[in-house]
Amino acid sequence: MSEALVAIENLNVTYRGSGPPAHILNSVDLSIGRGQAVGLVGESGSGKSTVAFALVGLLANNAEVSASRAAFDGHENIFATKTAETLRGTDVAMIFQDPMTALNPMFTIGTQLVDIQRRRRPGESRKSLWARAEAVLADVGVPDAPKRMHRYPHEFSGGMRQRVVIAMALLVEPKLLIADEPTTALDATIEAQVVEVLKRLRQKTASSMLVVSHSMGLIAELCDNVVVMYAGTVVESGPVEEVLHRPRHPYTRALLACEIDPYAAFDPSQDLATIAGTVPDPARRPAGCVFAPRCSSRHERCNGTPPRRQAGSRHAFSCWQEATR
Ligand SMILES: Nc1ncnc2c1ncn2[C@@H]1O[C@H](COP(=O)(O)OP(=O)(O)O)[C@@H](O)[C@H]1O
Ligand SMILES: [Mg+2]
Repeated sequence: MSEALVAIENLNVTYRGSGPPAHILNSVDLSIGRGQAVGLVGESGSGKSTVAFALVGLLANNAEVSASRAAFDGHENIFATKTAETLRGTDVAMIFQDPMTALNPMFTIGTQLVDIQRRRRPGESRKSLWARAEAVLADVGVPDAPKRMHRYPHEFSGGMRQRVVIAMALLVEPKLLIADEPTTALDATIEAQVVEVLKRLRQKTASSMLVVSHSMGLIAELCDNVVVMYAGTVVESGPVEEVLHRPRHPYTRALLACEIDPYAAFDPSQDLATIAGTVPDPARRPAGCVFAPRCSSRHERCNGTPPRRQAGSRHAFSCWQEATR
């Protein structure tokens, strides 16, 4: 088997400031195979974006990053050597929750879709870059692409802007495409359309993908594997099918119980379940199992660090409970 595109082991991120150090990520492992799509799921504040931002070298200056292994496509130590920064925009492209973070309000979409290709295709004529941009824009479902190329970001709706950003990411022809909550800012109908675009893209490109979302439903639609994060740690990981149908960690089960079926008719009589309690403050994480204070199956032994258990050849979870179901 060829080496994974991304191999991160024991990733730790700590923010140092005036207060106590905030350990945001604790021993996170992440492996993304070539052409594979991996989802990172967990509640808000669990550290998903921190993993994504670390991969593109976009963490704040006061972040201290360490890992036992940090490899990307044959480059080792991508954090220590600042390789992560140089990969951004060529080998790695990122789609954010808010498309405006990726778009410049001062330039037309066409100009931005042309400029994004320059690093990848130096020397190619503007005319040819423009033609490719127009084709990709039409491909992600922007109607009237030739005309829209001459328009500014503010002339697009939120859903159309996110399509433009997806086109931009595709034009980079990255080895890894990171999408951080790509549909969270969109309303449900538009979200379903953007998911379709991402799904189609998944089938068409050879790029690997890292999809960050608080929604297991979105991950299930787009990914092969899923990594479940809670309070800066990985609590469960494995093939999407297995984790979805046979979740082993109480946190994964709770997350799934909270999930609404995005395609089911909305039933206002049904309350959305929530997980009692909140994600702990990173500066005040409980010792032992970080989920224990909110876990309905907690036990005294949960005061100690839970063991990592295999539930299948590629399915693992960290819990004291060995439950089979
Ligand atoms: N620059 C920073 N300094 C200190 N803490 C930060 C900084 N950036 C993010 N955090 C903290 O890191 C934690 C994880 O955040 P994040 O990775 O954005 O989570 P998620 O994407 O899962 O919602 C949060 O508690 C957040 O407050
Ligand atoms: Mg986030």
